[in-house]
Amino acid sequence: MKFGHFDDAKREYVIDTPRTPYPWINYLGTQGFFSLISNTAGGYSFYKDARLRRITRYRYNNVPIDMGGRYFYINDNGTIWNPGWSPVKTELDSYECRHGMGYTVITGKKNGLKAEVTFFVPQDYDGEVQQVVLTNESGSGKTFKFWSFAEWCLWDAQDDCTNFQRNFSTGRVEIKGSTIYHKTEYRDRRNHFAFYTVNDTIDGYDTDRDTFIGLYNGFGDPQQVKAGTCGNSLADGWSPIASHYKEITLKAGESKTLVFILGYVEMPVDKKFEADGKTINKEKALAMMEKYNTPEKFAAGMAELRAYWDKLLGILNVNTPEDKVNRMVNIWNQYQCMVTFNLSRSASYFESGIGRGMGFRDSNQDILGFVHQIPDRARERLIDIASTQLPDGGCYHQYQPLTKKGNADIGGDFSDDPLWMILSVSAYIKETGDWSILDAKVPYDNDESKAKSMLDHLTVSFYHIVKNLGPHGLPLAMRADWNDCINLSCFSDTPGESFQTYTNPKFKKEGGYSKVAESVFVAALFTYVGPNFVGILNHLGKKKDAAKAQKEIDKMKKVMMDSAWDGNWFMRAYDANGQKMGSKECEEGQIFIEPQGFAIMSDIDKDATKKTLAAIDERLNTKHGLVLNNPAFSKYYVQYGEISTYPGGYKENAGIFTHNNAWIICAAAYAGEGDQAFKYYSEIAPAYTEETSDLHKTEPYVYGQMIGGKDAGSDIGQTGKNFGQGKNSWLTGTAAWNMVAISQYILGIQPDFDGLKVDPSIPATWDGFTATRLFRGAKYNITIKNPSHVCKGVKSMVVDGAAVDGCVVPYVEGKKEVNVEITLG
Ligand code: BGC
Ligand code: NOJ
Repeated sequence: MKFGHFDDAKREYVIDTPRTPYPWINYLGTQGFFSLISNTAGGYSFYKDARLRRITRYRYNNVPIDMGGRYFYINDNGTIWNPGWSPVKTELDSYECRHGMGYTVITGKKNGLKAEVTFFVPQDYDGEVQQVVLTNESGSGKTFKFWSFAEWCLWDAQDDCTNFQRNFSTGRVEIKGSTIYHKTEYRDRRNHFAFYTVNDTIDGYDTDRDTFIGLYNGFGDPQQVKAGTCGNSLADGWSPIASHYKEITLKAGESKTLVFILGYVEMPVDKKFEADGKTINKEKALAMMEKYNTPEKFAAGMAELRAYWDKLLGILNVNTPEDKVNRMVNIWNQYQCMVTFNLSRSASYFESGIGRGMGFRDSNQDILGFVHQIPDRARERLIDIASTQLPDGGCYHQYQPLTKKGNADIGGDFSDDPLWMILSVSAYIKETGDWSILDAKVPYDNDESKAKSMLDHLTVSFYHIVKNLGPHGLPLAMRADWNDCINLSCFSDTPGESFQTYTNPKFKKEGGYSKVAESVFVAALFTYVGPNFVGILNHLGKKKDAAKAQKEIDKMKKVMMDSAWDGNWFMRAYDANGQKMGSKECEEGQIFIEPQGFAIMSDIDKDATKKTLAAIDERLNTKHGLVLNNPAFSKYYVQYGEISTYPGGYKENAGIFTHNNAWIICAAAYAGEGDQAFKYYSEIAPAYTEETSDLHKTEPYVYGQMIGGKDAGSDIGQTGKNFGQGKNSWLTGTAAWNMVAISQYILGIQPDFDGLKVDPSIPATWDGFTATRLFRGAKYNITIKNPSHVCKGVKSMVVDGAAVDGCVVPYVEGKKEVNVEITLG
């Protein structure tokens, strides 16, 4: 069942009912000011940090769901409704929500009155602008009452939802004309305030929540709206809000446009107040209001936003036989990659914005998805990330976005972390050809005095793995590898201990983790990522260093065949007792997805590749994607940790973790199995879940982290119950990796050190496809022909009319346009 449709020409998803199976959201803002907005206008805004600078309040895990947002209320002679249906939930005569690139339009109609509300955050602007167009389509005159509504958060979102003894007595506002200012703590310790304004006169206002809503009412039946009045209340403590009130009369066919702005302002300490030392100095705020206070200025801001996205989405454009692929690649997957760049894992409808900082591994992997769109910002991000690294190549697992410092509370010793940086820096160089990043002086542990070249960072990253091997010569598993829930040194039996950071006393002397537990995943990642490091060294003419590194890679490949090959797939690990994990010898969790893809792409063994791909298809594949492990764990294995705490079929315990599905898609494509690769891709790509949105639940335009696996429900004896149900949409490494899987492995357009490589691995039924790609200053017009209907194999390549061997289009400086024609066969 569908709840809307794609409008590809406008790059929008059009939702046609407010009752989606879960709130379907969008993000506004790309720089400092961000908003989350659902299809019923729920959500909130923050400035830079969703925890420390939360502007409006939101109630996570609320009953009913999605409470708190920017709401407009209409009382049309006793009929009370919202343009977005919720929270009043009066049945509308028509409803539509269009989520676009950085904007959302919600339109509701009731009794001949139409309300169209467009929300966006302009470029270089610290505010959300909302245009409300009210049109009387009833055929006769209409007088009705209209309210806006926003609820202020007292800045620190964590404190705001816990420290009520203080917070109920600190709230402060100021009102001037049609603008309501939120200034809690502004007089004392904060140099920032927020405002909510409208470009018209008002007939009243409310700033005290209890006066507007009523203590025993909810967002769905505010007492002022019900009574058709306003309280002109001035908040003094309790919960400050901002609500404008206006009485509106429209002739038949007449429209009225109002532009609201929810803004955030920072002031220099000496300019905070007017002469009385008390009243907010509004100079800056007024200038902000001036920028978007007419429909014309609003339209100009929207046009600028559109141009911004045209540019970002103009870099890669494909035209394949599958509409769903085109809309994922050209629009939504790239859009989601930019959102993960902006938000990391901080704020979504599943991430509360008060949790984690920027993950070291997450941020490095995110780069793979957006480096072609914003290479300069990717470079900046790479330097930020590398600056938190420790001199021995170890890494803080997270860093804080505001301070950009490593997070000591979480610490390090996640065995995979250093390798992702080699991959992301390589991806940056391959995209840009900017080798100078390797010479950039980058601090260790944020200490400038310890700064060394980026190349040094890559070197210590590589050797951090080599220097931390276990008894079989495989990398030590440490606290966790990519799978945060395989915690082989934790042995936790006490509630509240963090599986990732708790140090079991039995490993204290050993440095916090077992020196026996080994990760086959990290071994496979090492043999996959390592050749990039070797490639860099060779390019720099450091042949000896390159050969030395290559030797380590070859050694690891041998260890993998000798000690980690299980006969039909690669094992997952050795636990702290030296026992195999992810082996046919195990009772549960016999096969895991994670090491397989990288092992295949490391060309370890041809026969192993074949067998592994077959085992994956047989043991892990389902119609909704590949499960992480099989069989699911049905009990708690203290020696494995968090993975076995999840009921079977969810999250890391045999859920369909879409992030590592991508690694298999890449691997199948790499191995020439284009049909198999595409099958896995289309099982999870959001556009393909649209028809079954009732089951899938989350947005059909973006990836979620997890889809319930075939074992979902097994814990309650209802195996298959939530099989196919998505969770945790938007902020996931899946965005970047599936972008890589479809664009670089299936469609095969892959930046390489020496130029653009084009080596597709597609369904045999395809006749071919075309693509354009901006790459190092030139536009590549790519045509792929597949007359023999093969999956993979470049039979011939013609570049600007001349035959070229292989499949790498050589980079020629200064060229502005390159025509590439490839025939598969
Ligand atoms: C989740 C993982 C996540 C980790 C972060 C776990 O509870 O299952 O997906 O990476 O928390 O610390
Ligand atoms: C989500 C985390 O953000 C990511 O770092 C981790 O690799 C996966 N979960 C798997 O545990």
